Amino acid sequence: MTRALILAAALTAAAPLQAQEAASAVAAASAAPAVPSAEAGRRAYTSTCARCHGINLAVTSSAYFDLRTFPKDEKERFIQSVTNGKRQMPAWGGIVKPETMESIWLYIGSVNGW
Ligand code: HEC
Repeated sequence: MTRALILAAALTAAAPLQAQEAASAVAAASAAPAVPSAEAGRRAYTSTCARCHGINLAVTSSAYFDLRTFPKDEKERFIQSVTNGKRQMPAWGGIVKPETMESIWLYIGSVNGW
């Protein structure tokens, strides 16, 4: 009898804890970084890169790299150049999150038909 009571008490105490755990799992899921996508990349590119590299990659000055010509098999170079900058190109490492850089890469690929 005492055992059953203790068990019941333990179960009752555990129930709100489970609810709490479930709630924090939901919170963690919604705070998790978004999966990289070309659409997210288009938005980030438009606000951060287009002023130099042109709307939809249509660059208007040869002073800026034409991203329509960026080699599709050099993703590593893309990440490096964007993270650390290159000559007149500012470094974006501390500003653009890694998953956003992935998205911009996907966006460039989608415009270039990769
Ligand atoms: C202030 C103008 C400016 C902005 C804003 C800018 N870039 Fe650039 N970017 C440049 C210039 C200038 C170059 C050419 C660098 C060189 O080779 O001299 C360049 C080159 C590049 C290259 C080619 C690097 C290589 O390896 O040859 C990539 C890729 C690139 N930019 C991506 C981006 C992305 C992605 C963004 C937005 C997050 C961005 N840029 C924002 C000016 C800019």
